[in-house]
Amino acid sequence: MSAIREKSLKYNIHSWSAQGALKPIVVTKAEGIYFWDEDGKRYADMSSQLVNSNLGHGNKAIIDAICEQAQKIPFMGPGFAMDCRSDAAEAVVELTGLKGAKVFFTNAGAEANENAIKIARQFTGKQKVFSQYRCYHGSSAGAGMLTGEPRHFFNEPGGPGFVKYDGPYAYRAPKACNFENEDDVADFYLELLENQILYEGPENIAGIWLESIVGSNGILIAPVKWYKGVRELCNKYGILMVADEVMAGWYRTGKPFAFMNFDYQPDIITFAKGVTCGYVPLGGVVVKEEIAKFFDDTALGCGLTYSAHPMGCAAAVATIKEYKDQDIEGKMAVTGKVLADILDGYVDAHPCVGEVRHIGLFSAIELVKDKETREPIVPFGKDPEGLMKKILGMLVAEGFWTYTHENMIIVAPPLIITEEELREQMAIMDKVLDSVDKMI
Ligand SMILES: Cc1ncc(COP(=O)(O)O)c(C=O)c1O
Repeated sequence: MSAIREKSLKYNIHSWSAQGALKPIVVTKAEGIYFWDEDGKRYADMSSQLVNSNLGHGNKAIIDAICEQAQKIPFMGPGFAMDCRSDAAEAVVELTGLKGAKVFFTNAGAEANENAIKIARQFTGKQKVFSQYRCYHGSSAGAGMLTGEPRHFFNEPGGPGFVKYDGPYAYRAPKACNFENEDDVADFYLELLENQILYEGPENIAGIWLESIVGSNGILIAPVKWYKGVRELCNKYGILMVADEVMAGWYRTGKPFAFMNFDYQPDIITFAKGVTCGYVPLGGVVVKEEIAKFFDDTALGCGLTYSAHPMGCAAAVATIKEYKDQDIEGKMAVTGKVLADILDGYVDAHPCVGEVRHIGLFSAIELVKDKETREPIVPFGKDPEGLMKKILGMLVAEGFWTYTHENMIIVAPPLIITEEELREQMAIMDKVLDSVDKMI
């Protein structure tokens, strides 16, 4: 066994895994959309790591900005004003399009949601927070309780006030629904949500969280009417609408933030990942003007030693500039369409593909045992025969790096991927799906 892997298994504890069976790849080089292991094998990073390496690996502008800041002033406490801090906040706010908004910087996505819960509670004076089943908002105590998929079991019983609602997922809606169109889908789930608001008492509800597009749990893209309807319910009952843009934001869908595809404006935005593309950790909470103003006279009940860390802020400024300088939006208008066409073709070509969902370079392939019954290839929350692990293994063996979740394969390459690179990698996926067809 490689000495590096051996030492890693001896000293490091790896996320979400039984440690004994792990065999982590030892990475020795990363450039563009690729990384290499110690034996020189090349992998295409078709998940952008954890959907955060949006500009790929080795981006010189971001690295230079971090180095420059490290030479200048690597750290000052969060109470001090610094050029990189205000520049980063300005760049983030401008990109959201929310006039008069302000940012509280955190270190990552869970911390962003953690602090957004506190801000929403402080501002509204109410306690309950709603979030969706099959969403992921992080794994820390509060964010982990917002999370609505099996990873939140590790946080239970957790604190009071966390309420889950069922959001749009037309492909797996109750059989009796028989939706005819997207409006039907939105109407059904909005009626359920409004009932739940009334049952829980609008006077108790601080915020309704949603992932602008449910990411890890399978790129669930709700109808525009759903987002607008949630906005209306929030207005009607005095509840804050919180959009988690940690994964779906930062041009992943082809627009700076995912909510921009759905014609509504959230009250609070949480973000992380693509704000620095992972070159150094950074996250944050954007609050609309009214909330920002509330804290002119009321002390904010949030604080972190590393809030607005100078290296994170310098990286954010450089990253946002790179998205623009590289015309990522323009590039994705082409590559997003290529990916969509390839994925749509899989539905007819492969008996194992139940549904594909995509927007920009954010997509999932949902695998089934039977197209008619839609029985997932593995049961919810389980993989007793290690089937998904096997399918992932086939992709990785061919140098296609990504991750799977439940019965879904995530495809979310770096936004700098070229059409040629995309076609080359998706040909590998096609071949692996041929093998999955034979397995079912
Ligand atoms: C939508 C969403 N929110 C929050 C988080 C948590 O972010 P972090 O892992 O940086 O704490 C994630 C992580 O994948 C995420 O996808």
